[in-house]
Amino acid sequence: MTQFRARPAVDRYTGPAITLHWLIAILIAGAFWIGFVMTDIPGFTPTKLKYFSWHKWIGVTVFALVVLRTIWRLTHRAPPLPAGMARWQRGASHVVHFLLYILMVAVPVSGYFYTCAAGVPVVYLGLVELPVVIAKDPVLRDVLKQVHITLDWILLGAICVHLLAVLKHLVIDRDGLLSRMMPFGR
Ligand code: HEM
Repeated sequence: MTQFRARPAVDRYTGPAITLHWLIAILIAGAFWIGFVMTDIPGFTPTKLKYFSWHKWIGVTVFALVVLRTIWRLTHRAPPLPAGMARWQRGASHVVHFLLYILMVAVPVSGYFYTCAAGVPVVYLGLVELPVVIAKDPVLRDVLKQVHITLDWILLGAICVHLLAVLKHLVIDRDGLLSRMMPFGR
């Protein structure tokens, strides 16, 4: 007799999910690094303008990859969490992951809106001029600048919480959670 079985629980993320995770992580680290360096450069030097462009291109790329990752997440199940994990930890992990998704979209979008309101079109990789979604507006520019900077700090905070949780699983729980997201993990 034919038996219908429930899909076996996967204990690792898939290749595309792992690739997107690490690509996005590296690009976000780069966007933060260039973001802090470029805003520290006084005046308007060619180097500063070059860093601004790189920052915007990285941010736009992060946005595109996060859209892909969200589609993956909505169409795939994440591997189940370790059996012994406390309920509050499961809840906290879902909240932080959800917050990370929201912020990974909101941060580049706020930066993009800010740039549009400042009247500076984004020419992606120096090749493709991206659409201007907000007309030049000095008042809105100042508001969106603050929004972008505030969201940057909230994202940084959420990333720190995420990293601390990973560290706890690695050092204290030793439950192999990190290997689910490692390219060559078991
Ligand atoms: C993951 C994506 C992004 C991250 C993590 C990020 C992060 C940052 C950080 C850390 C700063 C410095 C904030 C400070 O002064 O304390 C910054 C500034 C800035 N970002 Fe982003 N950003 C991202 C995406 C974008 C995008 C997509 C754009 C525009 C297309 C953009 C435009 C800007 C601009 C113009 C500034 C300079 C703000 C100023 O005038 O001082 N950012 N960003």
